[in-house]
Amino acid sequence: MVNSSSMQQIGLQLADQNRPLTDRFRALFTLRNLGGHEAIDCISKCFDDPSALLKHELAYCLGQMQDEYAIPGLIRVLQDKTQEPMVRHEAGEALGAIGSAEVLDVLREFANDPQIEVAETCQLAVQRLEWLKEKSSKENSQLSSNPYKSVDPAPPSLTQDTDTLQNTLLDESRELFDRYRAMFSLRNKGDTESVQALAKGLKCSSALFRHEIAYVLGQMQHEAAIPQLIENLEDLNENPMVRHECAEALGSIAKDQCLAALEKYSRDQERVVKESCVVALDMYGHEHSSEFQYADSLVKISQ
Ligand SMILES: [Fe+2]
Ligand SMILES: [Fe+2]
Repeated sequence: MVNSSSMQQIGLQLADQNRPLTDRFRALFTLRNLGGHEAIDCISKCFDDPSALLKHELAYCLGQMQDEYAIPGLIRVLQDKTQEPMVRHEAGEALGAIGSAEVLDVLREFANDPQIEVAETCQLAVQRLEWLKEKSSKENSQLSSNPYKSVDPAPPSLTQDTDTLQNTLLDESRELFDRYRAMFSLRNKGDTESVQALAKGLKCSSALFRHEIAYVLGQMQHEAAIPQLIENLEDLNENPMVRHECAEALGSIAKDQCLAALEKYSRDQERVVKESCVVALDMYGHEHSSEFQYADSLVKISQ
């Protein structure tokens, strides 16, 4: 167990803008793993940081913790138009991930936000919450299980057939929610064919969709996706939120071919891309080191 003063110490490490971002990410993951109101307070305090990358990760972690105590802070971030769209998107997604129907009205309000990635996120979150309420008990037993234990913005599809899933994934006339469901089914399947189908999604028209594809490819850590992820990272006209997620995916796949691209773009003009490459290089180092768990070091210090 971690006592309150150790928790505060980790909170200070997270908030310290003079520390390297990689240390601050470790502090964040430690707080996420510890959980509870105090950890949520430490995380929620940092939404005035200049790094959009850090702030979006704060929101992501709050969603994954699935504690309703984080809801008011996340609503404030979603409502705050001075926050970067990527941060507001993650706050909306986190509100969906927590799974409480009490946020449905707020999410419906932002389902028409002028920032398309925020609007699409809130539409998905509304559909996830409606699905949880109306269909999850009927469908749950038929769904593939998620080997990564993440709380996803949509459940997997009912079908397991790769061709059907690929067709749904890439069909721009279908609802985003159904395409996300196909995405998570392919991710759960995890074979090379599924990776290749998913990688095709990096050419689809919605930036939100492309960034989620990059995210699941990072979870899968499959080298078949490396060339496509590098292609989107290298495209300076690509949305920075997508380039960011490609960089992090390459860091988690952590093969030699990923290294040169990450080093090159760790000097990118876009702050969020640059910082993602720095974090990704740290993940790459971790994959190649004997450290047992990424967020382990701070827990050890604090015990
Ligand atoms: Fe995201
Ligand atoms: Fe992200």
